[in-house]
This record gives sequence, C-alpha cells and structure tokens, in this order.
Amino acid sequence: GTPLTLLGIESSCDDTGAAVVRGTPGAAQVLSSEVQGQADLHAAFGGVVPEIAARAHAEQLDQVVARALDSAGVTLQEIDAIAVTAGPGLIGGVLSGVMCAKGLSVATGKPLVGVNHLAGHALTPRLTDGTAFPYLMLLVSGGHCQFLLVHGPEQFTRLGGTIDDAPGEAFDKAARLLALPQPGGPAVEACARDGDAKRFRLPRPLLDRPGCDMSFSGLKTALLRERDGLLQDNALRATERADLCAAFQQAVVDVLREKTARALDLYLAEAPATPTIAVAGGVAANTPIRNALTALCAERGVQFTAPPLALCTDNGAMIAYAGLERFAAGQRDDMTLSARPRWPL
Ligand code: KG4
Ligand code: ZN
Repeated sequence: GTPLTLLGIESSCDDTGAAVVRGTPGAAQVLSSEVQGQADLHAAFGGVVPEIAARAHAEQLDQVVARALDSAGVTLQEIDAIAVTAGPGLIGGVLSGVMCAKGLSVATGKPLVGVNHLAGHALTPRLTDGTAFPYLMLLVSGGHCQFLLVHGPEQFTRLGGTIDDAPGEAFDKAARLLALPQPGGPAVEACARDGDAKRFRLPRPLLDRPGCDMSFSGLKTALLRERDGLLQDNALRATERADLCAAFQQAVVDVLREKTARALDLYLAEAPATPTIAVAGGVAANTPIRNALTALCAERGVQFTAPPLALCTDNGAMIAYAGLERFAAGQRDDMTLSARPRWPL
C-alpha cells in the first residue's frame, strides 16, 4: 500500500509523548518522537499524582506535538491521521490527550484514530523489527504485566499476567524499602550489581502453580522482613543493601523466565512460522531480565526482540504506529471517541 503518515499522542501516565511515524504495517519508520517526562513534578509525592499529571499534560501537549511535527519536518496538512491513546490509564491525562487530538482533527479535517495504550506497547516490535504475526509478547512495566499472543493489530490472546503488583511497581516499592531513589528499577539494578543474590532466600511466588499467572507483592513483603531483621542490629550496610537488591532482582528474573517458558509452550503449540518472543514496557530495560530471556530463546531456538529503551517506555511513536495499523485496516473514530480509564485488550 501507499505509505501513511501518522501523528501519535500519548498522555496516559506521567509522560507526554508525541511522534510522527511513516510507512505501512510491518514496514514503518519513526520520523520523530518527543517525550516530556514529569518525574520532577511527582518526585516529592513518592508516586504519580493524577491531578498534577493531567494538568501537566494539558499544559505540555501543544508544545510536544509542535516539536514532534517540527523535528519530523512534517506539517499537520501532510499527516494522514491523528492517533491518540484513548485508554487505559489515568483518566485526566487520557482526557487531555483525547481533547488535544480532537481539536487537531476538527481544525485540520484529518481523521482521528483511538488507540489502546497496551496495543501500542504490544505492536512496538512490528515498528522496530517488522516482526510477523503471531508473536509472543511479554509486557512488563510499572503498571502492567501480561503475556499476550499477538495475532493481529487488534487480536490479542492473554495467556496470563500478574494477579497483584506489576514488576516495575515491585521494583519501585523495593527501592523505597531500601531508601533508594525512584524510579526504583534502575536504582535496584545498579545496586544489585555488587550484591550476592544467594545471601537471602526470597520466595518465587506461584512457580509451584500451573499456568502463566504471576504474583510480585509477596516478594516485597519478604524483602521487608529481611530488611527489618537486619535493622535490628544496625543501620543497613551498603553490602547488605546490595545483597537484598540482588536477591530481589534474581527472584523476579526466575519468575519471569519460568513463566515465559510456559507461555512459550502454549505459543509454539500454534506452530508459528518464525517463532518470536518480544518484550516491551519499562522493565524490559533490565539487563539481567533481558539476558535471562535471551538465553531462554537461544535454548529453545526462537527469536528474541527487545525494542530500544526509548520505545519500550511510554512514547508517542508506539501510538502513532498502532494507529497506522488500525487506519490502514480502514478503521477510524469520530468525535464520539471517549477516554477509558479501564480497557482490557
Ligand atoms: O513502561 P514504563 O515507562 O511506564 C509504565 O509503567 O507504563 O515503566 C516504568 C517502570 C518503573 O516501575 C521502573 O522502575 C521500571 O519500569 N524500570 C525498571 C528498569 N527501568 C525502568 N525496572 C527494572 N529494571 C530497570 N532497569
Ligand atoms: Zn505504558
């Protein structure tokens, strides 16, 4: 088909993103991707404050969109359609993005395409590597954790996921317990580098149960218990903190690796032509997790794909691309498009 040019807008959590993507399904390029984070605004509160996030998105969106168009060297008139995250996420932020996209759509007469944020993450390997359907996706972020069989742009089968915390959330809580900075994932990973993962024995929740469901909240409780045991004797020493981080991270790695192996069995039963496992979400930045999955894929003779970090975390390019897939399939929305706080795939 003819190449399509999509503007994508993302504002479902604490990153304001806008991007321009051009191409066809499975063969598209990122012309620009601008992300304005809000970490500094939320830092003092120890987590994302929805009202502050919504206001910041509303204030930032116009500029971020303008920067994305500018660095792509594209005008609004040259865009074929405007894609926007319509959920799931913090409702105020999603609303800010949807209103911005509707405004642009009305002003230019360009079609509007609503995108599920999770579909944006799940389709990213198609943007970065042209990965063919069906592939197995492990989506691991601060808010999400699930295995998806991706059969088409809007055809997903959920094989399992967390029954409580997402792994990124667990990393963030672990960091808080150990007085490390936020976001916790990178801080725990860095601290764990000097640690001995075997000194503390933390649980591997749900590994004894069949299926692909996971649980991470018990891990945090176990970590708290070990920490408090140590604190009875002295303030936490650097080596102790490193050992706790290493033990925690190793437990997450072991759970993800084993559950991915099970999801892989279900996927391979469908006899895909080019078996591929892809990861997305902020936690996919974790090197030991990537290494464990790379090793698993090598053992089982399947391809492994991890998008570059900037496209693993929240961004507008994945929304533009997911919008491109929908738009190319003839789908579009109108002014009745609504923002949805909950929207399972
Ligand atoms: O995808 P993302 O940017 O936002 C959403 O949650 O949607 O993911 C952010 C999460 C945070 O919880 C952060 O601690 C985690 O990803 N994260 C990591 C690493 N880098 C970011 N977790 C483990 N290891 C990392 N290197
Ligand atoms: Zn996300």
